[in-house]
Amino acid sequence: MKIAVIGTGYVGLVSGACFSHFGFEVVCVDQNAEKIKSLEKGVIPIYEPGLDHVILENRDKGRLTFSTDLKSSCENAVAIFIAVGTPTDEETGQADLTSVFEVGRQIAPLLKAYAVVVIKSTVPVGTAVRLRDVILQTNPHAQFDIASNPEFLREGSAVEDFLHPDRVVIGVNTKKAETVMRQLYMPLSDQAVPLVITSSASAEMIKYTANCYLAMRIGFVNQVSDLCEAVGADIAEVALGVGLDKRIGRHYFAPGPGIGGSCFPKDTLAMVGIAQDHRVSMSIIEEFIVANDKRREDVAHRVAAALGGDVRGKKIAIFGIAFKANTDDIRDSAAIIAIPSLQDMGCAISIYDPAAMENGKTLFKNIKWCDDLYEAAQDADVVVVLTEWKEFKDVDFAVLKSKVGVPLIVDFRNLYLPEIVTQAGFTYHSLGRAAKAAQ
Ligand code: UDX
Repeated sequence: MKIAVIGTGYVGLVSGACFSHFGFEVVCVDQNAEKIKSLEKGVIPIYEPGLDHVILENRDKGRLTFSTDLKSSCENAVAIFIAVGTPTDEETGQADLTSVFEVGRQIAPLLKAYAVVVIKSTVPVGTAVRLRDVILQTNPHAQFDIASNPEFLREGSAVEDFLHPDRVVIGVNTKKAETVMRQLYMPLSDQAVPLVITSSASAEMIKYTANCYLAMRIGFVNQVSDLCEAVGADIAEVALGVGLDKRIGRHYFAPGPGIGGSCFPKDTLAMVGIAQDHRVSMSIIEEFIVANDKRREDVAHRVAAALGGDVRGKKIAIFGIAFKANTDDIRDSAAIIAIPSLQDMGCAISIYDPAAMENGKTLFKNIKWCDDLYEAAQDADVVVVLTEWKEFKDVDFAVLKSKVGVPLIVDFRNLYLPEIVTQAGFTYHSLGRAAKAAQ
């Protein structure tokens, strides 16, 4: 069976590579010829652990190819996956579907033999119906059905999340389309992965609801963390005591500098927009957005407070600018707000991140870019941990102490046991627990 995947971002590339890993013949299509050329040479344009291995193995087996040509790529495909970007429309706050409908118009004339057009991109409820209309308006004789097949891939673990998902969500409205989609996902359903076969509207709602719930969960634990600081409780112990309730769960319940990335900020805004369009209140998510924006702005103020308020001329070592560990993605990361704020306060900034430095250099100016965390810490008045890279967790405190100007750490990821840090001679500020002076 042949599949075409249109769009070679982390969703399209991971999906295409993993479908070829299942044994299907896959063509990954992109209009960006440079990107396609790199992929054909085995150069993977995104940082996604394990993706290069899956791509190279299946490219060499001839099951995975790359092309800029839509016509030949869609020829004889049983399914055409649309995995193009749906960024936030700055005016409306809604998802910008321009690329999705543009692809619909481009593939419509190609749908001579039946194929399932699968929406993999995150799209508002009702998009499947609109895409169907766009295709039929372009080619009334097109032979196709639409399926909604949202992804639940996390950056940094996308290959794992595709190959071992908790569930596969499939929105279809014909038996024919259902049969094709069941065939494509048999490698997973044969491993007892549940298939949720539903309508397109429900499939589209599942995606937004999942992301908004997860974002709200983090927003909630962040506010609980602040209250823990105020009342002298310990967020890790509170999260454990709460999370052991199987209705709540211990995973995905750690405080941080505010959520970032390419999905949650976009999807929460889109969900609020959809609700407003239908005159339904989604005030809980609206409040999450306000609280999360405020938290991201507070990062610089927390650092200033730890420095005693007088920050002009201080040297700040930033450990991590990626929005989370195991990715090079800095979109909507806490650093995006914190670094310019600290520079406006008159601070000098040095940065080290294991993967996101190149992306950071396109954004931040007047920075001392460092090759490792100890170089970044050299003569620093404070070390600020923004990303939970394992490399930072494994820091040698004795070496770090010998480098810094002032032994002070502000940790927005609670990487360390306070006792270890204070015994090493550092004053330690973290989230949801009392600040600890050096011993
Ligand atoms: C998310 C969803 O998890 C995924 O299912 C969806 O398909 C895409 O969006 P991603 O954006 O890659 O994935 O990152 P995720 O790991 O979910 O983290 C999102 C944000 O929450 C990050 O800023 C992260 O630092 C933060 N986070 C996550 C916390 O602050 N605490 C946690 O315990 C978990």
